[in-house]
This record gives sequence, structure tokens and C-alpha cells, in this order.
Amino acid sequence: MKKKVAVIGSSGAIGNSICKKLINDDSVEEVYKFSRVIKNEDTDKIKNIEIDIEDENSIKSCVEKLPSNIKFDLIFVATGILHNDNDIFPEKSIKDISIDKLQKVFLVNTIGPTLVGKYFIPFLRKDARSVFAFLSARVGSISDNKLGGWYSYRASKTALNQIIKNFSIEVKRSNNNAIFVGLQPGTVKSYLSKPFEKNVKAEKLFTPDYSAEKLLDVISNLTNENSGKVYAWDGEEIGP
Ligand SMILES: NC(=O)c1ccc[n+]([C@@H]2O[C@H](COP(=O)([O-])OP(=O)(O)OC[C@H]3O[C@@H](n4cnc5c(N)ncnc54)[C@H](OP(=O)(O)O)[C@@H]3O)[C@@H](O)[C@H]2O)c1
Repeated sequence: MKKKVAVIGSSGAIGNSICKKLINDDSVEEVYKFSRVIKNEDTDKIKNIEIDIEDENSIKSCVEKLPSNIKFDLIFVATGILHNDNDIFPEKSIKDISIDKLQKVFLVNTIGPTLVGKYFIPFLRKDARSVFAFLSARVGSISDNKLGGWYSYRASKTALNQIIKNFSIEVKRSNNNAIFVGLQPGTVKSYLSKPFEKNVKAEKLFTPDYSAEKLLDVISNLTNENSGKVYAWDGEEIGP
């Protein structure tokens, strides 16, 4: 049976590369792309649906546009924020902390993906293995925190990892085939990483296509035992 997949945040660097790989995969029948701005027409294989993950009604109305009996083999959440062109930037120090930054970063990185889980979990396949993957970050690991800083981004990803664990525990009771994971894509060239790429050695700065290929490899090897955990692009488990 051919697969159906959904990518939320398909306009981002990594989300777009994940979509391209899935579209070129003959074992995939349909790719549902969700993003704030729709640029392309639908085809037999590609369906585009608008979503704003900062708005619960938008997420709810997205799933109402799906065929009611559709079940996904993979749901991949590729949304996220580290900075914007205005007032959001990673805090270097305690004095940079503000309610506005914390609220915005938690809204996009934690609350949005959690609500995506709430509305999309019923669309996971139950009769065979299915994966719900969320892009997280290594800096979300408390045990790995050696440098400090980046208060809102770090904490928003730590909280996301806890939500992923919770999903894995609760959904196991009704869908033992569902696997929930957080994924660390490496340092990837994108709008999100742009202000920091000068600090990264050229060979450590991945193209979005390379990262997407590695992440899809990790996903293809996941089993139930991996559910609730966080993995890097090379399959290494990242401790909480
Ligand atoms: N790049 C890295 O080095 C790196 C490292 C570790 C973890 N990550 C994680 O990987 C994920 C993707 O990062 P990226 O590098 O691909 O960044 P990116 O190119 O900036 O993509 C971010 C995506 O999030 C979407 N988004 C933001 N707010 C949204 C909202 N309210 N509703 C719907 N979509 C929204 C953006 O949509 P628009 O196009 O509409 O803005 C875009 O599709 C993030 O979670 C990030 O934390 C990245």
C-alpha cells in the first residue's frame, strides 16, 4: 500500500526539502503540504493547505479540509522560530529576556506543534507503523546545556520534547503502531540559522537537502521502542 504523508511548515528550508524527497519517492502516493502561504497549484500527488500554527482555529480548519477517512504514514512538523527581522532574537544574557520574546517563541515552537498534535493525531495510521516527527533542537537537552543563553528557544524545545513524550505515552494506549519523535536536523543553512552560520565550520553546515535525506533515513529505521525520544540527523539519541 502506498504511503500518505503530511508536512507542516512546508515552506521552510528543511520542510521544503522533506517535501521534495517525499514527492520524488515512488512509495508515496500523496503529500499534503501545510504552510502559511500557498504558492503552487495542487496536483494528483501534492495537496496544499494553508495553516497558521499560532491560531488554533486555523489548525482545526486545516484538518476539516482533509478527506475524512485519510490516514497518514508520516506527519512531519517542520515549523519553528529562533529570530525574526524585528524584535525576536536569541537572548545572550538574562537582561535580554522579555515577555514578548518568551511568548512568541513558545507559541511557535511549543504551543503550535502541541496543537498540531491535538488535531492531527487522529489521522495517524493505526493498522501499520506510523510516525509523528517534530523538528526539535539539541539545545533543548538540559543535560547537554554547557553554554547557557538562548533562554526562550532552548526552553521552548525542552518543553516540546516533554510534549512529544506525553503524546507517546497517551497514544500508545489507543494506537500501538504510532511512533512520536523529536528530531535534531544538524546545523542547516536556512533563514533560521543565517545569523549564526558564520560560527559554524563549512563542513558542519548542512544543506537542507542533506539534512532531509538523513532525517528520512532516521525515520525509516524507527521502531516503537524509539517513541517519545529525540534523535539527531545521524540517528544518535539526544538525552533529555
Ligand atoms: N536550521 C538549523 O540549523 C536548525 C537546527 C536545529 C533545529 N532546527 C529546527 O528545524 C525547524 C525548521 O527550521 P528551518 O531551518 O527549516 O527554518 P526556516 O527555513 O526558517 O523554516 C521555518 C518554518 O516555520 C514556519 N512557521 C513559522 N511560524 C509559523 C506559523 N505561525 N504558522 C505556520 N508556519 C510557521 C515558516 O513558515 P513561513 O515560510 O510562513 O515563515 C517556515 O516554514 C525549526 O523547528 C528549528 O528550530 C533548525
